[in-house]
Amino acid sequence: MVDKFLPGLQHLQNIHPLVVHFPVAFLAGAALLYVLAWLAGRESLAWTAMWLLLLGALSATIAVATGLYAEPGVMVAPSVRAELLVPHKRFMLGNLALGSVLAVWAVVARPLPAKRRLFFLFLLLLLLVGLTKGADYGGRMVYDYNAGGNACGQPIDFTQ
Ligand code: HEM
Repeated sequence: MVDKFLPGLQHLQNIHPLVVHFPVAFLAGAALLYVLAWLAGRESLAWTAMWLLLLGALSATIAVATGLYAEPGVMVAPSVRAELLVPHKRFMLGNLALGSVLAVWAVVARPLPAKRRLFFLFLLLLLLVGLTKGADYGGRMVYDYNAGGNACGQPIDFTQ
């Protein structure tokens, strides 16, 4: 039944790819609206941005949990694991830590911190750069090295 409605689900090795787009979109939206709120001096925009930041931190937690769960089962060569999977994991754990700190800061000094405001906005932009770089490692694993396993079935059996 589900297979008929969502045939793409059959090809998933794990649910990590289903959830990764949420933190990217929520956190990018939060940064955009926070910058607009600051430039336009609109508090209503800052409230929306704060909620996006909270959703971003929450969905990043889910993405990290599903990523850590997926990690041992991904069949990539040790070199790909070392050069792409490990940096991807490190970037995303760092992004989760930074996103969580910013979310707590935003709630405590809601909706847009008045003290060290420019530093807050700078850290948000830094988070976007970190997310983009981390996602690039993830995308390269899947599209350059078949970590998703769809270009050819895994495990790739030995043939003479
Ligand atoms: C905020 C947290 C995270 C985000 C936004 C994220 C994002 C991504 C993206 C965009 C991809 C490429 C997916 C595709 O194009 O289909 C990917 C793949 C992958 N990521 Fe993450 N990731 C996160 C955390 C982690 C963590 C902590 C790990 C742990 C090692 C991890 C392990 C993987 C693995 C194994 C893949 C390969 C595809 C798979 O089997 O799921 N990710 N990730």
